[in-house]
Amino acid sequence: MANTYDVAVIGAGPGGYVAAIRCAQLGLKTVCIDAWKDAGGKPVPGGTCLNVGCIPSKALLESSEYYAQLQHGLAEHGIRAKEASMDIAAMLARKDRIVEKSTNGVAFLFRKNKVDWMPGHGRFLAGGETYRLEVADGKTPEQVEARAVIVATGSLPAPLPLFPVDNERILDNTGALRLRQVPKRLGIVGAGVIGLELGSVWRRLGSEVTLLDTHDAFLPTADTQVAAEAWKWLTKAPGLGIRLGAQPKAVQVTRNGVSVEYDDAQGRQRLDCDQLLVAAGRVPNTAGLNLGSVGLKTDARGHIEVDAECRTNLPNVYAIGDVVRGPMLAHKASEEGLAVAERIAGQKPEVNYATIPSVIYTAPELAWVGQTEQALKAAGGGFRKGVFWFMANGRALAMGEARGFVKVLADERSDRILGVHMIGPRVSELLGEAVVAMEFAAAAEDLGRITHAHPTLSEALREAALAALGRPLNQ
Ligand code: FAD
Ligand code: NAI
Repeated sequence: MANTYDVAVIGAGPGGYVAAIRCAQLGLKTVCIDAWKDAGGKPVPGGTCLNVGCIPSKALLESSEYYAQLQHGLAEHGIRAKEASMDIAAMLARKDRIVEKSTNGVAFLFRKNKVDWMPGHGRFLAGGETYRLEVADGKTPEQVEARAVIVATGSLPAPLPLFPVDNERILDNTGALRLRQVPKRLGIVGAGVIGLELGSVWRRLGSEVTLLDTHDAFLPTADTQVAAEAWKWLTKAPGLGIRLGAQPKAVQVTRNGVSVEYDDAQGRQRLDCDQLLVAAGRVPNTAGLNLGSVGLKTDARGHIEVDAECRTNLPNVYAIGDVVRGPMLAHKASEEGLAVAERIAGQKPEVNYATIPSVIYTAPELAWVGQTEQALKAAGGGFRKGVFWFMANGRALAMGEARGFVKVLADERSDRILGVHMIGPRVSELLGEAVVAMEFAAAAEDLGRITHAHPTLSEALREAALAALGRPLNQ
């Protein structure tokens, strides 16, 4: 006899766990099914984000940045440290504790909100008035029945047949987050977000890092001025090289390392490294869901097909997060999860896809929301641009981090903010103000008239807004 629920959520990543909690808060009897197991084989919620994504990568970025500061950044403050050393095992143990705290937190929230958490692999068996799912975790499979289903099965690293991942020599993100030794030379296939963030971690700890990317443009989805500034600072850092327009052609794994042959504008080239991280994008994870049994449709790229409200082609079946179209970001997955839960409960929520923020946690950080300058130019509408450089911001100078700028793009006629693009110190934290401003349809003048505490980095945002009006004060 199957347990019956109002809602079954498949996947307990930031999409699925948030959806399940919100469903339960709205009085819906909810089960959340998840197949993830930690390295010791224990079922843990949290998905990619908490286990091998956002959280562990940020833990390592933080640790490695302190080390880099100690080596290169603190001397200008007069701080001299002799014989600084890095205990990689301690750094990894700290990261693991943070992951454990975070996943335990989700398990606690499930209990608090009365979500039934069911570890195991979920798949569709049958549909109709209700949906029947099987959950298998190695023991006798169980069945659950639900009136509505939310598929939140996330994504997996895009497999490149040329580079079979063994997480010894050829790594994916999981392997690159648990290296026990700093590789002398780390090669990375893909100069995208994962390549840059995890490349930064190991570079700061002493690796000679080389990124290869097939694309000729660096960070093509970012604002080009921001991407150019990022290129300048990232490639200036000792130990990091980025080769664009590089088409990998062959790979050889030996006992001592990995050799990659690739073609670029100069002809055939070779990259020799000790380990190679493959970070060439991610693909939706629908394997084993048995979509055919209920006729759930996917699109040409393998995403579950959904409309703007995350409805699939089946009644009462929704899909959210990395498994559907749109940016593969934890906060986007959570927003969709919230909205779908509320929709199932009869409410009319909306996700504003135009204000989903993006951040790249390198040093300096990149952060943006809304339209890029190149997109606005291509669209042909009139806009005004204000740029304020951190070199004129007192707090950034005091921090010794006066790199980069904030750019505000505003509609020429209405002055409504259309995009905010930043590169600089802790801009991930500055971005929230820009998102709020855009959500409230603020004009650049609104930001320019708001008192910002002095001295703070946030003054740079106000100044950029004033610059868009043609009247910056401090630049
Ligand atoms: P996931 O988090 O992938 O969760 C899906 C869950 O479903 C998993 O637990 C999986 O085991 C489970 N599952 C799959 N199939 C089944 C099945 N059939 N039955 C049961 N369970 C199943 N995003 C950010 O916004 N900020 C960041 O800083 C950031 N850093 C990242 C760093 C790295 C190294 C990586 C790899 C990703 C990062 N991301 C970041 C992206 C972010 O992790 C994803 O966008 C996010 O996890 C997507 O959430 P999700 O709920 O859709 O899927
Ligand atoms: P990505 O899409 O950011 O970058 C992949 C890069 O690989 C691209 O530049 C592409 O041109 C290149 N590439 C593709 N095939 C290649 C090949 N055969 N050889 C060489 N280069 C190749 O994808 P990435 O870095 O794997 O990250 C996946 C997702 O995870 C991203 O969509 C991102 O949204 C998310 N993420 C978000 C983070 C954040 O918000 N800070 C951090 C890390 C990941």
